[in-house]
Amino acid sequence: MERAEDAGVYKLTGDLAIVQTVDFFTPIVDDAHQFGQIAVTNALSDVYAMGGRPLTALNIVCFPRDAMDISVLQDVLRGGMDKMHEAGVILVGGHTVEDPELKYGLAVTGTIHPDKVIQNCTARAGDKLILTKPLGTGIISTAIKGGKADEESVESIVRSMTALNRTASELMVEVGVDACTDITGFGLLGHAGQMIEGSDVGMVIDAASVPCFPGAKKLAEMGMIPGGLRRNRDFRKNMVDIGTNIPEFLQDILFDPQTSGGLLIAVPENKASKLLDELHEKGVSEAVIIGDVVAQNKGRIQVK
Ligand code: CO
Ligand code: CO
Repeated sequence: MERAEDAGVYKLTGDLAIVQTVDFFTPIVDDAHQFGQIAVTNALSDVYAMGGRPLTALNIVCFPRDAMDISVLQDVLRGGMDKMHEAGVILVGGHTVEDPELKYGLAVTGTIHPDKVIQNCTARAGDKLILTKPLGTGIISTAIKGGKADEESVESIVRSMTALNRTASELMVEVGVDACTDITGFGLLGHAGQMIEGSDVGMVIDAASVPCFPGAKKLAEMGMIPGGLRRNRDFRKNMVDIGTNIPEFLQDILFDPQTSGGLLIAVPENKASKLLDELHEKGVSEAVIIGDVVAQNKGRIQVK
């Protein structure tokens, strides 16, 4: 596949394909059990973004045996198991290596109908853009590392990063959408850029409608800016036109690298309110429409 899709798809038969993905990283919160849950939620997300159903997983663990108590690892793995259980995913194995830094994640295998794969690059002019989770996990986890994050901010990102994208995925498959991706390391504008890069459509994003965590504004203004945020902005700046009226902190949030972020869904306008209503009804309460896919400004994102 020449394009960077969220996960790899391999067709087995006329009506069955497997979806595979892998993701693991270092802790971004202090609580080991929560970290395990976040790592698993994040790893499953690429399968959900394509409309697939994750079935089995392999644990990937890096652990500093001499420097860290084994109970920490047990807590991480328990957190991971809890989330896999919730997702209906079965752990079938794994591998641990000695490493100076704790890392955890999964290799995931799921299934999908080969004709029903939701790609990230097939948005069409007239689509509405729905984002299912608020932004700001990178800024707030940078503040956690610096000892500057308040409890409410930490709680709000943990709640979000441990919320599976499963319901959102199932609903978008049911309704029928044009494109989807999950928001992770490249931030909202990075992943939005991927959606329309080299295509014959553009995007307009209404900055005021983009949801962000309560503490993110203050912490961004305090300078809690992850290195990845600057890289994301440099990488996409030639593709994005940001209105001069957009405050600095909001620009930061739009480029903030996310962990276990929400889905960005391009849905035909006549189905958008139905999908949004169902998302809210089924507990994806923070989903909102943040903009439009347009025929003008091909390959460019206008933020206004
Ligand atoms: Co992804
Ligand atoms: Co990924």
